[in-house]
Amino acid sequence: MSMLPYDLISMQDLDKAQIVSIMERATYYKAKVIDQGARLKVLEGRSIATLFFEPSTRTRCSFEMAGKYLGAEVLNVEIATSSVTKGESLKDTGLTLQMMGVDLFVIRHPMSGASGLFASYVEPPVINGGDGSHEHPTQALLDLMCMLDKLGSVAGRKVAIIGDVFHSRVARANATCLTKMGAEVVFAGPPTLMPDGADMMGCRLTYSMEEALKGADVVMMLRVQMERQKAGMFPTVSEYHRLYGLTPERIAMASKGALVMHPAPINRGVEISTPAADGPQSQINYQVTCGVAVRMALLDMMIRRGC
Ligand code: CP
Repeated sequence: MSMLPYDLISMQDLDKAQIVSIMERATYYKAKVIDQGARLKVLEGRSIATLFFEPSTRTRCSFEMAGKYLGAEVLNVEIATSSVTKGESLKDTGLTLQMMGVDLFVIRHPMSGASGLFASYVEPPVINGGDGSHEHPTQALLDLMCMLDKLGSVAGRKVAIIGDVFHSRVARANATCLTKMGAEVVFAGPPTLMPDGADMMGCRLTYSMEEALKGADVVMMLRVQMERQKAGMFPTVSEYHRLYGLTPERIAMASKGALVMHPAPINRGVEISTPAADGPQSQINYQVTCGVAVRMALLDMMIRRGC
């Protein structure tokens, strides 16, 4: 087993051997805890604090479930009713919680770089639960687990990541993770929602959804991040859906049996139609299950270092 870095801020922090170790531990916990229903005490006496400065259902709740399944205490800090509203800084918030005996922090923040900054202030390990448009490493790891479970391997597979790439921390984290694991990653989206290629790990960029779909083994749709849009990035929602929305007809352009993925929450009728989201190739619900397994693995490996 490879030892993990002290903090997990970006997929750049992990090498291939470490990613493989996380997948092995997550697979073990999925079988034992999720499939067989075991409740464990490996983190008994340990405490995890989650600080979500942005809304979340999947990431926050799955870290909470993961911690509880392993016997840890989980403190969900309610930012809206905390002293952050009185102007308390990120640093003072972290140090205050550290002095209460927190063993690991999970943080989500709207500012790119905030999770790394927070890690520089506090002693316990920090996991980035998503920071602005920068990174969302646990999402990339759960996406990888889903692909490995369904495809066996991702080496040499084509993964098309389509939509609002510019604002997407999921796209950036997946690009790093999947290229390390030997997959071919192609990004597609409208010109206004595509980054300049320099920060996309050398992956191919296209404005043509059809080109990205051709031969794809995985079709990963990205949420149009309405909360981060400047005006005029696309004319109307219906035009966006017509040009870049995933439908059963477009799924048929990918490889036979291609996996349909989305980090969620999904905007039905915008980046993905209901028949595509709920269809037989959709992995969206299974991704959630993988999220609990991956987060159990990370909490265990980062709190009980070397065990
Ligand atoms: N995929 C994801 O991060 O979902 P939440 O915003 O619900 O955590």
